[in-house]
Amino acid sequence: MATKYFTTPIYYVNDRPHIGHAYTSLATDVMARWARLSGEEVFFLTGTDEHGQKVEKAAQDAGMDPQGFTDRVSQHFRDLAATMGFSNDDFIRTTEPRHKAACQALWEELVRRDEIYLGHYEGWYAVRDEAFYGPDETEERDGKRFAPTGAPVEWVREPSYFFRLSKWGPWLLDFYRENPDFIAPASRRNEVMRFVEGGLQDLSISRTSFTWGIPVPGDPAHVMYVWLDALTNYITAAGYPDTSAERWRFWPADVHVVGKDIVRFHAIYWPAFLQAAGLAPPRRVFAHGWWTNEGQKISKSLGNVIDPVTLVEEYGLDPVRYFLLREVPFGSDGDFSRLALIGRLNGELADTLGNLANRTLSLIQRNCGGALPAAAEAAEGDAELISGLGSLPARVGGHLARQEFHLALEAILAEARAANGYITLQAPWALKKTDPVRMAVVLRHLHTALRVFATVLQPFMPGTMAAMLDQLGVPAEGRGLDALAVPLPEGTALPPPAPLFRKVEA
Ligand code: MSP
Repeated sequence: MATKYFTTPIYYVNDRPHIGHAYTSLATDVMARWARLSGEEVFFLTGTDEHGQKVEKAAQDAGMDPQGFTDRVSQHFRDLAATMGFSNDDFIRTTEPRHKAACQALWEELVRRDEIYLGHYEGWYAVRDEAFYGPDETEERDGKRFAPTGAPVEWVREPSYFFRLSKWGPWLLDFYRENPDFIAPASRRNEVMRFVEGGLQDLSISRTSFTWGIPVPGDPAHVMYVWLDALTNYITAAGYPDTSAERWRFWPADVHVVGKDIVRFHAIYWPAFLQAAGLAPPRRVFAHGWWTNEGQKISKSLGNVIDPVTLVEEYGLDPVRYFLLREVPFGSDGDFSRLALIGRLNGELADTLGNLANRTLSLIQRNCGGALPAAAEAAEGDAELISGLGSLPARVGGHLARQEFHLALEAILAEARAANGYITLQAPWALKKTDPVRMAVVLRHLHTALRVFATVLQPFMPGTMAAMLDQLGVPAEGRGLDALAVPLPEGTALPPPAPLFRKVEA
């Protein structure tokens, strides 16, 4: 069986989860669900990033010890996964023993291969980004220094171990050229390539000025740099260092889904660490854009943080899942607006999809006694609809393989609009008296259309599409992509339909 491994970033536990975290994990969840629907064996990983200065400081501010603090905040991310319906197969925390063991094993392997040396770091560090910045990368404003991300930087001077990143530059450039799909979208790929072409410095990979981290083997005065620790989570969960572990067959990861803010760590440091340790680099890193709220940057100080739990309470889980992936091309920045959300829910879910289901299923109930009409050949007038439906799953799959969620949904919606045009044109309600045989054929084609839509939409709206498939009389074993080739038997009893989507007042 083909395997697929998808990951989200592991989230810092300095604060409660917000819409940005939900968005990254949602996209990953849809890919994982689609792969399962295609019959692939999937490992979907998410989790929390619990070490480092930023988390240590957040714990101090909360007046708690770091472990107690991370236990508490990490739970919020687990709760979010449940609220959002994420189908992750594992949830990793970097404070777990399995992760400490993996990080230390990776470190020792890098030492064995002479990829690490002891030196001294002197330079800028931004705790908010947990990142080192070069002298010409920072900027002074009002007597304070800032990173290009806007994070304040501080001057750090301490003994440090270094990873020989500089020597991996040429290899990385070859790797990007040989694997043009490794970084997406293309704008991010160019950005990364320009950065590597500019020359890489060796990377400081340990800290001595605080203790909340994984001790460096043999030199516990040092804790590992939090990004080396964090990135390693992707192999920890696959069983590393035990490369005979059952889970190891999932490595290398198929897609690391990340926000655009952390693409450098994933597309430069991570493949270099892995290659240096003799491990395969991941196949792809996809960097999505950032959400603003009604045109404004989302920030705690502006008080406009969007809580995904509140949104779900207000609009329902599946409408929110749909909207987040429908509204904005994955990879671009997007604006969250309630009006846009309501417009899509009413226009696309309730009016287009919901209405089609309701009209079709009510007619089958009323005019056919709730028994599914026989499958029929496509006659003139049906052919266009039927051929569009036939190619839809492959088109959706193609879009999802490129993380084009909005195009996948647009393709489904275009077919749903076509089916609405078809029902209006064929007017099966009028055929009951004039041509009941043709009426049955039309209703069966519409049923087929709904089955295709519900099947391919399952990854996006699992709960609502399960209800729709129930109403369509599709048994549990008939819900995979392959099962679409097997028509439901004539006479299948359909339960009375109920509305799948409700309209929302603007
Ligand atoms: N801990 C690191 C990742 C380590 S992965 C080995 C980290 N964590 S984070 O909690 O700060 O955020 C991670 C991700 O949250 C970002 O990459 C991005 O995917 C998502 N987002 C945070 N704010 C966001 C928006 N406003 N909009 C969209 N996504 C954003 O970085």
